[in-house]
Amino acid sequence: MRLLAINGSPRKNWNTAQLLEQVVAGAKTAGADAELVHLRDLKYTGCVSCFSCKKIGGPSYGRCVLQDELRPVLDKAHEADVLVLGSPFYFSTESAFMRAFEERLWFQYHLYSNIKPSMSPRKKATALIYTMNVRQEEMPAYGKDRIVATAKRLMEHMFAPCEVLLSCDTLQFDDYSRYDTDRWDAKAKQERHNTVFQQELKDAHALGQRLVSQENHIF
Ligand SMILES: Cc1cc2nc3c(=O)[nH]c(=O)nc-3n(C[C@H](O)[C@H](O)[C@H](O)COP(=O)(O)O)c2cc1C
Repeated sequence: MRLLAINGSPRKNWNTAQLLEQVVAGAKTAGADAELVHLRDLKYTGCVSCFSCKKIGGPSYGRCVLQDELRPVLDKAHEADVLVLGSPFYFSTESAFMRAFEERLWFQYHLYSNIKPSMSPRKKATALIYTMNVRQEEMPAYGKDRIVATAKRLMEHMFAPCEVLLSCDTLQFDDYSRYDTDRWDAKAKQERHNTVFQQELKDAHALGQRLVSQENHIF
């Protein structure tokens, strides 16, 4: 059983990364191979619309043809039994790192067909993790609920099923007094980090364990 977790935050040890690390730890506890990839370490682009993955009889039919540093990660995602994507919200959508990854991951499997299913090779258990400054009840006002629903729908169309873990109202700075921001209550943020976020880390650990459990793989 192999779990691949992808960090779309450029910060390699903050909220998104910590949640993903717990997913990986949970999966390992359950005996799975699990790996965390930080997209920030890689040089790659989004989809370049070459359509090599759609060319009938072409050598790269169903697979992204681009040979950049995302290539081995797409291969690992192709082979993984469980795929977990984590991203912060940046201006009400996924980070550019994650969005470019998703374009490459999804478009290679996507078919412009009303009758044929996705070209995704196999069923995978999946999860999406989002972190953000706003509170959960504010998500609809910024369209974030729609972004989550769209990503979940695509993951379920291609791999099925997909769980979602939201971490809202996150701690963004180590010391709010050192940065030019007056919107957030630093004390409340720290308090939430010390309580709610710690529970979310436990939820992420349990998620990792659950995703690699056998009953998740009877499709
Ligand atoms: C460029 C940028 C844009 C952001 N835009 C949003 C946003 O639109 N909505 C929001 O709730 N938080 C926004 N944030 C805050 C992050 O989503 C939040 O701090 C997140 O937890 C950061 O994840 P990390 O700690 O894993 O890096 C933004 C942060 C940055 C750096």
